[in-house]
Amino acid sequence: MIAVKSLDVQTIRKDFPILGRRINGRPLVYLDNAATSQKPVQVIDAISAYYGLYNANVHRGLHTLSEEATVAFEEAREKVARFIGASDPSCLVFTRNTTESINLVAYGWARKNLKPGDVIVVSHLEHHSNLIPWQMVARDTGATVRFILLTPEGTFDMDSLDEALQDGARLVSVSQMSNALGTINPVEEVARRAHEAGALVLVDGAQGAPHLKTDIRAMGCDFYAFSAHKMCGPTGIGALYGHPALLESMEPFLGGGDMISHVWFDRATWNEVPYKFEAGTPDIAGAIGFGAAVDYLNALDMEAVCDHEQELTAYAVNALSEVEGIRIYGPKDTRLRGGVISFNLEGVHPHDVSQILDSEGVAIRAGHHCCEPLMRLMEVPGTARASFYLYNTYEESDALVQALHSVRKVFHHVASGRPLP
Ligand code: ALA
Repeated sequence: MIAVKSLDVQTIRKDFPILGRRINGRPLVYLDNAATSQKPVQVIDAISAYYGLYNANVHRGLHTLSEEATVAFEEAREKVARFIGASDPSCLVFTRNTTESINLVAYGWARKNLKPGDVIVVSHLEHHSNLIPWQMVARDTGATVRFILLTPEGTFDMDSLDEALQDGARLVSVSQMSNALGTINPVEEVARRAHEAGALVLVDGAQGAPHLKTDIRAMGCDFYAFSAHKMCGPTGIGALYGHPALLESMEPFLGGGDMISHVWFDRATWNEVPYKFEAGTPDIAGAIGFGAAVDYLNALDMEAVCDHEQELTAYAVNALSEVEGIRIYGPKDTRLRGGVISFNLEGVHPHDVSQILDSEGVAIRAGHHCCEPLMRLMEVPGTARASFYLYNTYEESDALVQALHSVRKVFHHVASGRPLP
């Protein structure tokens, strides 16, 4: 057996300038990584080098700067494709983010291919980005959206998948890991059953690619959508992997420069894949930063990243369970969850939890996490959510628990009508 590398978290932290900040007089404890991750100096420097040394447009100019920018942009595509196990970089389309990647499939494949009687299957765990595009497709094509139901712990009820796959399923679109509950979904098994039923499979990797070792071939998906900003890269850039034959068959989503081969006043022909889907000047600096982010993650080893987060999460779930009045959502078995912990404190609104934690330097997210229907299903207005990444420490988990005790204290005093000490 090959030993998995362990992370040297204290050394890693030195790569992230922002982690040296103090917030409200306390060291920053950044636990909002499911919303966006922080960026290492290697990524910041790669973006800065592009703007400072070889800023030019790609695929157009014949001058040195443009050639350098084009090489760096296409090298980034190769790195990002390799990171998810795609051997052919032309199957990797740069987009703005996961949301745009999913919409590209909704516009380029689903609207062209679906008709009344066809079915799109999603789960009750999905964030709005993997729900609204399909509601819009259903409205425009007459197709129907069906759902994979959840067990009480927030894992997929696989019998409900089998039911949803009967009669007319054409596409199954599910997240690799839930942003709201942290559940790691059995996407390989979902893909196997979906393909058996004749449906295509889209995996939303927004929370998967940053935290789990990802191989789209092992996963068996036809499309894979993800964003750079949750995996140490910049905002404004993401990617869609698509099976080559599917990308070939799909219509472009946006029209304009770069996506064409030849243009007449009344018609045009399309450029080859992936350029057919990349209209206009792309986010060149973003793509280069995305490439630097996957270099950074590769150097750490994604299995080590995943192990660190799972151990830290198990530690945190255990410590949080001791906080009076807490309810933690999602799977109890921490092997079934990534580094996302959603919880509520009895009698305290999640927004108040977040505000008091912020006063102690601890950044979490509170609200519906872009999963309003899921929150409705759970009968809560929202949750407080702590989410870990590779630079988080056990001491930071302790700081979260300590700060939650402060929240309890504040609310105890408010409830008792006594002034705060
Ligand atoms: N989907 C992102 C989150 O979970 C924005 O916070």
